[in-house]
Amino acid sequence: MSAADPSGGSLGDGPSGRTRPGGPERVPVRPDLAEVEPYGAPQLDVAVRLNTNETAEPPPPGYLAEVGRRIQGLELNRYPDRGVRELRRALGHRLGLPTERVWAANGSNEILQQLLQAYGGPDRLALGVRPGYSMYPELCRTSLTPMREVDLDVGFQLTPAVAAEAVATHDPDLILLPTPNNPVGTPVSHETIRALHDGSRALVVVDEAYIEFADDHLAALPLLDELPRLVIVRTLSKAFRLAGLRLGYLLGPTWVVDDVQKVRLPYHLDAVKQVAGLVALEQEASFLEHRRRIASERERVAAAVSPREDVEVFPSAANFVLIRTGVEDLFDRLLAQGVLVRDFSRQPRLEGCVRVTIGTEAENDAFLAALERALA
Ligand SMILES: Cc1ncc(COP(=O)(O)O)c(C=O)c1O
Repeated sequence: MSAADPSGGSLGDGPSGRTRPGGPERVPVRPDLAEVEPYGAPQLDVAVRLNTNETAEPPPPGYLAEVGRRIQGLELNRYPDRGVRELRRALGHRLGLPTERVWAANGSNEILQQLLQAYGGPDRLALGVRPGYSMYPELCRTSLTPMREVDLDVGFQLTPAVAAEAVATHDPDLILLPTPNNPVGTPVSHETIRALHDGSRALVVVDEAYIEFADDHLAALPLLDELPRLVIVRTLSKAFRLAGLRLGYLLGPTWVVDDVQKVRLPYHLDAVKQVAGLVALEQEASFLEHRRRIASERERVAAAVSPREDVEVFPSAANFVLIRTGVEDLFDRLLAQGVLVRDFSRQPRLEGCVRVTIGTEAENDAFLAALERALA
């Protein structure tokens, strides 16, 4: 407490031990947040970090120099383009959509947050899948949106029949569907997306954070013109190797793009980021050329582990694999060897599981060697 107590009164104890008159020292946080831990995977300074599904390689050579050159021309004393038009036009151009059907924000998490702010709320219902991306419940909580989850089957798939039954049972306003799924890695079929859409009145949000690692035919893009309530959410954090940039986007009907602008903060996307995103799209081919290598490394890691009787490897279309073992403290045993993975072992449906991001060949070798020792 910095202010001196002018009265010498004894109301309220300050952190300094002194007292002052007036109201309480502290305002209680919203009751539903009182026990909440801030969300996020551990950020530890270890040799091999395979816990947040980033790409291990940096952006292509020359990218940062070009961004540096281009930002020289920015008028940073002025606010950036609030409508993010040039970047949205460039995103739309590469995917065959007009600017009015594209929106961009600070990572796909912010896009998801804006969707929940616009279409969620206490009188609405969101439907997710279990297992699913662990931020969805957080975003539902902060937007005061009730959420239900439908269980994926034993192979972590969602069949069209189960999807149709789930929407008929819950009648959601909003559906949150990661494909490929994080953390399990399975993609969702077009038939299932159709079943969710056609069996409901909901906004169907297909979260394609990892889609560039999957086979092209899995992308929901061709469904956009067929399904009027479909929204696709993507990011430059994963295959585009720009997790540090915080840039994500949505593709959808124009009314969704109009509605999310009702909840966005003015000038939410800074001018430097808008330029950095544009330059990345201009260099898209070099940004994405590592995708094949990641897919083949993923298969190599899976093939190296799958002969073991004590490890179950789940098939993945993303840049990570989920494995299940009987070793309760596998996460700690790997960490003790300098390998950081994501621990899901205490989560429902994921008992005994850790998720490992596919890194460089050397990092993957380090993981395999550490796993061998941890299971010995
Ligand atoms: C399924 C899924 N969606 C969205 C995100 C958010 O990514 P970002 O906010 O970096 O775009 C992630 C990140 O891990 C994810 O796994």
